[in-house]
Amino acid sequence: TRVFISRDAASLSLGAARIARLIVDEAGVRGSDLEIVATGSRGLFWLEPLVEVETPAGRIAYGPISPTDLGSLFDADFLSGGEHPLRLERLEDQPYLARQQRLTFARCGIVDPLSVEDYEAHGGYAGLRRALTLEPQAIVDEIKLSGLRGRGGAGFPTGIKWDTVLHAQADRKYVVCNADEGDSGTFGDRMLMEGDPFSLIEGMTIAGLAVGATKGFIYIRSEYPHAYRTMTEAIEVATKAGYLGPSVLGSGRAFILESRLGAGAYICGEETSLLDSLEGKRGMVRAKPPLPAVAGLFGKPTLINNTLSLATVPWIMANGFQAYADFGMGRSRGTLPIQLAGNVTRGGLIELAFGATLREIVEDFGGGTATGRPLKAVQVGGPLGAYFPASMLDLPLDYETLAAEKGLLGHGGIVVFDDTVDLSRQARFAFEFCAAESCGKCTPCRVGAVRGVEVMDRIIAGIEPEKNFEVLEDLCALMTDASLCAMGGLTPLPVMSALTHFPEDFDRAPQVVA
Ligand code: NAI
Ligand code: SF4
Repeated sequence: TRVFISRDAASLSLGAARIARLIVDEAGVRGSDLEIVATGSRGLFWLEPLVEVETPAGRIAYGPISPTDLGSLFDADFLSGGEHPLRLERLEDQPYLARQQRLTFARCGIVDPLSVEDYEAHGGYAGLRRALTLEPQAIVDEIKLSGLRGRGGAGFPTGIKWDTVLHAQADRKYVVCNADEGDSGTFGDRMLMEGDPFSLIEGMTIAGLAVGATKGFIYIRSEYPHAYRTMTEAIEVATKAGYLGPSVLGSGRAFILESRLGAGAYICGEETSLLDSLEGKRGMVRAKPPLPAVAGLFGKPTLINNTLSLATVPWIMANGFQAYADFGMGRSRGTLPIQLAGNVTRGGLIELAFGATLREIVEDFGGGTATGRPLKAVQVGGPLGAYFPASMLDLPLDYETLAAEKGLLGHGGIVVFDDTVDLSRQARFAFEFCAAESCGKCTPCRVGAVRGVEVMDRIIAGIEPEKNFEVLEDLCALMTDASLCAMGGLTPLPVMSALTHFPEDFDRAPQVVA
């Protein structure tokens, strides 16, 4: 019997490796025949540690399993799909998964992440094979027409970025994957790299063919050792099997790939800072222009995209731009891998077409707060994203709607808070975070963040509140207008949203804040 257990870092932290070991030991004692397949995670973290066993009726899941459950699981003959209180039937039939539209994450948690044969058997490399028959401009046009936008957070049209790099003249170009996933509450990049690394490799190879680059780098957050190991091994496997190298799939077109471990700073996720770091320097933000698409890594035109943008490319190339563009709302086409975390009952990865409401995510999928207390706030889009109150849960998730509400969708992270959260403390934390993570290049951010903490301390202590609110609003306006990058430029977003939507936490009567 084949038994599937996740080797994703989140599953491991919940005890998956121990459960796998205990299953092997118990099977040895009982003389049961089994083979453990280490997969990525399905992203239903509230069910981990989770095992799936292969039966004629499909993969039957059991979870969450604790070491004390093993005896009864074997007694119930779970290796043949036997009845047990932890039996969940097929995961595909669980509403949490059945209601999703998994395109980018279609294979994650299903395949063996290091088997390129398994990847191909599940539709992998169909996109690259098609791309190899197309001219570079035709590949770029396909991505343009799909409507794909940068999943790192800025939502810039991916095809337009590819076009800029394609038409930049240079003797050498690069493709860089930004896998320095630093947003609080996000884990989609990591999950994909640990669960389906070949989709990223394939996406980057297609990108290389499209823009005329023969070399790529994946810059992986230093806090992601498992993702780094999996990606590095997958690159080796793909290279040995001829999917990467001097002649990709015998086409005569070259593409080689390297993984790099990040420098451990949030700001190294900012694209120009990342490029500095990749060049071996301290990660400092560069002024734009020039855009990386024109002069990026080592001064050469560089296509730099987020992990999930690149990993979505194979699906688009395999299924055609229209199939992708058919999902979504407004100018946000396709699907968004939403990462639900914080004080929530069922946290996990939820890939849905744009347009689902926060309420569907937090209540229907998430099941409300884990503490059972009333929900007070959700922060959408990472530490630089806005806090929204429970009364705004009917907001649909798309780039434009959130921007219109003075928030951002960012990388799709949603963090849930119950009524014990104090939003004045969260506003202070936004400045504190910025002060700690600022690269220090520009004054509004380097000094502004420190001043922000001080002014928040005075507000929290009730010292001259009206005067300090004025200073706070002034400071936020200055940081927004004059910071060199999004770190300083967006820090006012969580602060002002806290002030606007939760005035009571600042001992302030509700009022309109600019
Ligand atoms: P941006 O709007 O300056 O640029 C977006 C992208 O488009 C960049 O790659 C830029 O080089 C490119 N671009 C712009 N104009 C172009 C053109 N004409 N041709 C080709 N390429 C062009 O935004 P930025 O500063 O790169 O990102 C800010 C966002 O990052 C924030 O909105 C935030 O959501 C997100 N973020 C994500 C984090 C994560 O962990 N994923 C962490 C922190 C912030
Ligand atoms: Fe550096 Fe902050 Fe200025 Fe960005 S805004 S360049 S992080 S100092």
